Amino acid sequence: MGDATMSMVASAPGKCILFGEHAVVYGQPAVAVAIEQRLTVAMTPAASWSVDGSPLSDKKHPHIVMLKDALMAENSPMSMHISGDIPNASGLGSSAALSAAVGAAMHHIATEHDSLDKDRLSALAHLAEAHAQNGRASPMDASTSVEGGVVILSNEREQRGDWLYTRRLETPEGERTWEVHSLSAAADDIYLVLGNTGVHAPTSHQVAMVAKALAAEPQRMQEIEAIGIVARRGIDALIRGDYEAVGHAMSENHLLLRNLGVSSPELEDLIQAAAPSSLGVKLTGAGGGGCMVALTRDPKTTGQAIELAGGRVLISRLGNPGVRIDE
Ligand code: MEV
Repeated sequence: MGDATMSMVASAPGKCILFGEHAVVYGQPAVAVAIEQRLTVAMTPAASWSVDGSPLSDKKHPHIVMLKDALMAENSPMSMHISGDIPNASGLGSSAALSAAVGAAMHHIATEHDSLDKDRLSALAHLAEAHAQNGRASPMDASTSVEGGVVILSNEREQRGDWLYTRRLETPEGERTWEVHSLSAAADDIYLVLGNTGVHAPTSHQVAMVAKALAAEPQRMQEIEAIGIVARRGIDALIRGDYEAVGHAMSENHLLLRNLGVSSPELEDLIQAAAPSSLGVKLTGAGGGGCMVALTRDPKTTGQAIELAGGRVLISRLGNPGVRIDE
C-alpha cells in the first residue's frame, strides 16, 4: 500500500501526428511525435478527491476516475492541480497527456516505486481514451505521451524502429490490433510549427463521422489505405533523415484527409498561409478544427504567416521526453 502522506508532481507531453490520423483507427501505419508542450499534475493528500478545486466527478473527469479506480483504490484522497501549455481539445493529445501524467503520479504514490511501468500506464491511458471516444481509439496519443520521442503504430511488426508492445481493442467495427514501436529521430534545424484554429471539434465526433462515411460507401476504404501508403513513405523518409521527403509526404497526407472530409475552412486558411515557408503542411489530429502542423526550417516566418491568418502558434522541435516524475 502507498504512502498517503506523499505529494507528487508528474508531467507528460502533448503529441503531434505527422502521418496517418484516422487511418490508424483501421490499422494503417501512423507516426506521432511528442511535443515540447506539456501537462503537469501536482497531487497532495487532502480530505477529499478534487481537481483544481472542484470535487472529482465521473462526468467531468472520466479519465481521472478510471485511473484512480485502477491505481489508487486503496489510497487516501488527493487534491490535484493541473497546469501546462497544451491547448485543450485541439488535436494535440491533451487528454492522453492528462491520463499519462495523472497515471504516473498515482502509480508512484501507490507503489512508492521509482520506475514507471510504461507498458501498463500507456495501456490504461489508451483504455481511458477509448472510453471517451465511444470505443474507437487507437493507442497513438496514449503511447506517444507515455513514451515520448517518435512513435510508430502499425497492424504488423515493423522492421523499422524498436517494437514496444501490442495493443488490442474491441471497437464497434470489430477487434483491432496495433503494434507499437519507438523510433529515434531528432534534427537540430527542423521545427514543427503548430497553428491552432481555436475551433473545438470533438475527436469522438470526427472519428464517428469517418466510420459513418465508410459504412455508407465501403469502397472509400481505399482512401484509408492510400493514407497508409503515404505514411509508409513518410516513415522511410524520417528514418533516412530526408526532411524534404517527410514534408512532401505530410502535404500529400493532408490532401487525402481533406478528401476524407475531416479538414475545415479554418484549417485550410492556416495551411495555405504556412505552405510557402514550409517543407510540408497538414492538419494534425482529428481535424474539423483544432490544429495544423507545418514542418519548417524557418519557424519565425512560418509562425508569423499562421498568426497573420488568424491562428495561435506553438513551436516545438522533435525528440521530446515522455511522461516523467518531476518531484
Ligand atoms: C486523434 O488524435 C487521432 C485519431 O486518429 C483518433 C485515434 O487515433 O484514436 C483521429
